[in-house]
Amino acid sequence: MKNSKRPFNLLVALTLGLVCPAVAAEVHQATGFKIVNVTSTAAEIWTRVTLRAAANPADAPLPRVEAYELKTGQPVALRENRVFPDTRITVHMPAGMDLGAAGGGAPAAAGQTRVRFRVKGTDAWSETPWENAERERDGIIVHSLSKLVSATRYELVVQARRNADDRRPDDQSGEFTSAPLPDQRQPVTFCVMTCQKYERLDHPGGLAIYPAMSALRPDFFVNTGDVVYYDQGPVIALTPALARYHWARMFALPTLRDFHRNHTSFFMKDDHDILANDCGPATRSGELTYADGVRLFREQTAAPERANRTFRWGRDLQVWLMEGRDYRTPDWTEKRTPAPTLWGREQIKWLGETLAASTATFRVILTTVPVVGPDRSNKDDNYANAGFAVEGKEIRELLARYPNLTVITGDRHWQYVSVDPATSVNEWSIGPSTAAHAGGWEEKTPRPEHRFLRTGQGGFLSGVITPTATGAGLELRLHDVDGRVVYREQK
Ligand SMILES: [Fe+2]
Repeated sequence: MKNSKRPFNLLVALTLGLVCPAVAAEVHQATGFKIVNVTSTAAEIWTRVTLRAAANPADAPLPRVEAYELKTGQPVALRENRVFPDTRITVHMPAGMDLGAAGGGAPAAAGQTRVRFRVKGTDAWSETPWENAERERDGIIVHSLSKLVSATRYELVVQARRNADDRRPDDQSGEFTSAPLPDQRQPVTFCVMTCQKYERLDHPGGLAIYPAMSALRPDFFVNTGDVVYYDQGPVIALTPALARYHWARMFALPTLRDFHRNHTSFFMKDDHDILANDCGPATRSGELTYADGVRLFREQTAAPERANRTFRWGRDLQVWLMEGRDYRTPDWTEKRTPAPTLWGREQIKWLGETLAASTATFRVILTTVPVVGPDRSNKDDNYANAGFAVEGKEIRELLARYPNLTVITGDRHWQYVSVDPATSVNEWSIGPSTAAHAGGWEEKTPRPEHRFLRTGQGGFLSGVITPTATGAGLELRLHDVDGRVVYREQK
């Protein structure tokens, strides 16, 4: 009699999700989740349902991408850092496999997600409703958390399940801190990094800078762009499916997954993560328009529709995230008169107004491309290049009006701290994410405008606000990939 009851009891227990840890969840979160757009009262949680618990093996077959001229049908040779407008794209996998099996990938699945969250150390959980994730949307759902308490540590659990009958949700936990109010004076730590490429990793779990940044326990983190490299091989992303593949394999890396579930992130887009090197609003490549690239970037990072934004993080810090691509003169390579715009007149007006209105002790301008430089003479993509000299001078003069202002730039694959001789505006270039991804500036001797120069290496930046008896101090540091400080300045 005893034995005959056992299968029934087991069935009941399984149905209730009470036992059997050996039985895996039906759907997973191989790409983790991201905590984004955090303010003193709200946060958004980017979630993604995946078919499997981890990425495909990195040595699994890669898709073979081919392009053909639309007019003639002739094959086009694909090369890195180029665009391929007016082409038809085909993607091939070995027989019997689809793109979902590609090396490093983490394909989406249909399912549902929700977020449970509470002030750390308290008992009662709040929950967002379960929402349906579709494969057509890459399994992504963004949940909004509201009515948060400022400057407060929250813990959260993101749950993914197949459907309402699925009693074994996949649970992923994390933590974050809401922003302090503009009149709250307290210590703040933030980290900034740029330029990460899947083929140029430096850690068994992906990138060494992520555990190094995590060790500093930053209140928030900014990725200033080139989050992925669509236009670099071996798999050049010329279709929406290939673009999503680039994102999935990057964020399935364990170091990124672990970092993002425990830290607030702000994402800025640059060129390689929209379409291709030095792209602008008129650029097209393969099956992707610039608008497609922007839509995919927003899908993968939950970035808001208006890309340029500014936010306070307490009494002493205001941060500006400048948009470097959307507002460019579209055909900027051909028409140079009148002087082309890079940030766009409307964004520059907004920058001037918000700088003037700011009451923060320190102003930090985050830009995806340099404002001061120096940069190479063969580039024509940023305010340090001759092509944008007119507007660049105007911007530096605008920034020079404000004390305690620092520019932090991504995009350059070397680290520097420079001072504009004309205006004294200073700029910190945070360097690429790994040494293997370094390059571009070969001069080993600093120029007169360099206060610091470090080439051939990777790293990141951190900033620390410390309240003092009379106000607050800001220390900026450049780090190597393992977190060691290679340069610091007290502001
Ligand atoms: Fe880059």
